[in-house]
Amino acid sequence: MTRIPHETSGEPNPLNALTLDSLRRRTSMKWRTYPEDVLPLWVAEMDVPLAEPVVRALTEALEAGDTGYPVGTAYAEALAAFAEKRWGWGGLAVERTAVVPDVMLGVVEMLKLVTGPGDPVVVNPPVYPPFYDFVRHMDREVVEAPLGADGRLDPGVLEDAFRQAVAGGRRAAHLLCSPHNPTGTVHTAEELSAVAALAERYGVRVVADEIHAPLVVGEADFVPYLSVPGGERGLSLMSASKAWNLAGLKAALAVAGPAAADDLARMPEEVGHGPSHLGVLAHTVALRDGTAWLDALLTGLDANRRLLTDLLAEHLPAIRYRPGDATYLAWLDCRALGLGDDPARVFLEHGRVALNSGLPFGTGGAGHARLNLAASPEVLEEAVRRMTAAVERTGRD
Ligand SMILES: Cc1ncc(COP(=O)(O)O)c(C=O)c1O
Repeated sequence: MTRIPHETSGEPNPLNALTLDSLRRRTSMKWRTYPEDVLPLWVAEMDVPLAEPVVRALTEALEAGDTGYPVGTAYAEALAAFAEKRWGWGGLAVERTAVVPDVMLGVVEMLKLVTGPGDPVVVNPPVYPPFYDFVRHMDREVVEAPLGADGRLDPGVLEDAFRQAVAGGRRAAHLLCSPHNPTGTVHTAEELSAVAALAERYGVRVVADEIHAPLVVGEADFVPYLSVPGGERGLSLMSASKAWNLAGLKAALAVAGPAAADDLARMPEEVGHGPSHLGVLAHTVALRDGTAWLDALLTGLDANRRLLTDLLAEHLPAIRYRPGDATYLAWLDCRALGLGDDPARVFLEHGRVALNSGLPFGTGGAGHARLNLAASPEVLEEAVRRMTAAVERTGRD
């Protein structure tokens, strides 16, 4: 697959564009969940202004009163072109896509197509907590196949989970997070092919959440699940929401492999009534005209990964942090600090800095915290200063 180096963008680093004062005026979840004295580095929102083409398109739409219902395939076409250019994957067929309200509701709809009530869904903890919440809410059973200690998929563990899931003739699915939240692991073509082979052997259907796909920061190459041998029966969810910070402008795409087209065709038409016209517009423009902005962001995130590594080595060397190759999330193993199962609580109470608790991420989450590094270097420095102060304070108590 071809790799476009992100160093080539002429755009300024969007992570340096906003002051803390202006960010504190935001009214979204990241900024309004905790009191003003807490520095928020938790939920996956980024401290960036929007890419200029997105702002322009939305502003023009508002000025024109163009706020009706969405129609057409422009979003899918933009994603297909992005996939071809970015990942060298020409297999995204617009006729095998459907617009869905957002990625998690898309996941639910895809799981409904391939499983029934009470059926098992395999997940790879530690993993994005809504994988548990949404799957259970739709009356499916979560089966865990934990990642290995190296943060990678473990084929032996996955096979055991698949075997358990299909026992008694149940229909089973594997909800794959690719790239993986929270570890930032980018699954290789070999690993994904092994998943596809196991899925084929056990009759398990794979639903791949690929929302973080444009956010590859390190040396790895993102490989679309549907592009690997055996991935033809897969279903994928993609969106511009994480990479361009568009969570408030909901719209995502469900994509079917060639052998899953009939499944996607069974998705009820009313699901397509969820996304908003402005959401579809914003996501389309981001994918089509927002790549220079994305490249500047990736360069900034790469610098932040290194900065966080250095800051932790200097001030909190007991924390184990292995920078992943994707996402803007840092998965911190704090067990050696002796702060108990929920170090994020200690950082919040004693340091006034908000990270995500590792506990809701499932098996492997205890003693861990997730830090959102999509912030300015100054905010990262302040966060580590506060975490250090929290550790010092608890040591003194
Ligand atoms: C893996 C993963 N899937 C889904 C989502 C949420 O996406 P959406 O808001 O489109 O449902 C997130 C948000 O952080 C995520 O990390």
